[in-house]
Amino acid sequence: MSLKDERREYRYGRLNRAGLLESPYAQFDMWMQQAQTAGINDATAMVLATVDAAGQPRQRTVLLKGIGQQGLTFFTNLNSTKAREMATNTRVSVLFPWLALDRQVSVMGTVTSVAVEDAQAYFHSRPRESQLAAWTSAQSQPIESRAVLDADFEAASERFKGQEIPMPEFWGGFYIAPTAWEFWQGGENRLHDRFRYSQGTNDAWIIERLSP
Ligand SMILES: Cc1cc2nc3c(=O)[nH]c(=O)nc-3n(C[C@H](O)[C@H](O)[C@H](O)COP(=O)(O)O)c2cc1C
Repeated sequence: MSLKDERREYRYGRLNRAGLLESPYAQFDMWMQQAQTAGINDATAMVLATVDAAGQPRQRTVLLKGIGQQGLTFFTNLNSTKAREMATNTRVSVLFPWLALDRQVSVMGTVTSVAVEDAQAYFHSRPRESQLAAWTSAQSQPIESRAVLDADFEAASERFKGQEIPMPEFWGGFYIAPTAWEFWQGGENRLHDRFRYSQGTNDAWIIERLSP
């Protein structure tokens, strides 16, 4: 089928103001649980947008590893392109594309760093191979070949044989503190339901329906 003819109706459900929870965190938790229960692949995957010093946006997928007081947590290489961009511009946006439920959630916010001890606690909870991969990959840098990557992984494996693998200094986490959220539920005839939570005074969230 040609690209221009690719379309479908969104019939999964409706979203209305009365059915929304007052806290976007609670609303997100509920939708995340529903996404996980529905068996959506990589329900915790979120597309992270950062903007470089020239104003050029860039996006890539990262995994949500927690959500709490300080915001949404993810982990990455601190020399990566995204980390460099967040060092000069802390404003980011993430999008959860839960398309099997005709849903997307986007979150706008600013990033801060996860404390080293907390990043270490998460790092040590990862499978050993993932810890070795963190040592192996100079993320976002050009690399000569797959063979070089595999050899570097073997070398890291030898280096840390029989020991606990320390967290590299160039690895860590970020919190995204949300300033606005948008919950989108696809509707029939392209009449989608959209609700934005934005920050009002006294920590209250203002909830508005947006035109689709
Ligand atoms: C499903 C999925 C999950 C991913 N999770 C992460 C992650 O949690 N952290 C990470 O650094 N990269 C993750 N990646 C790889 C990133 O998308 C990206 O390729 C990498 O972080 C380099 O991005 P950058 O060069 O823009 O910094 C994931 C990719 C996919 C497709």
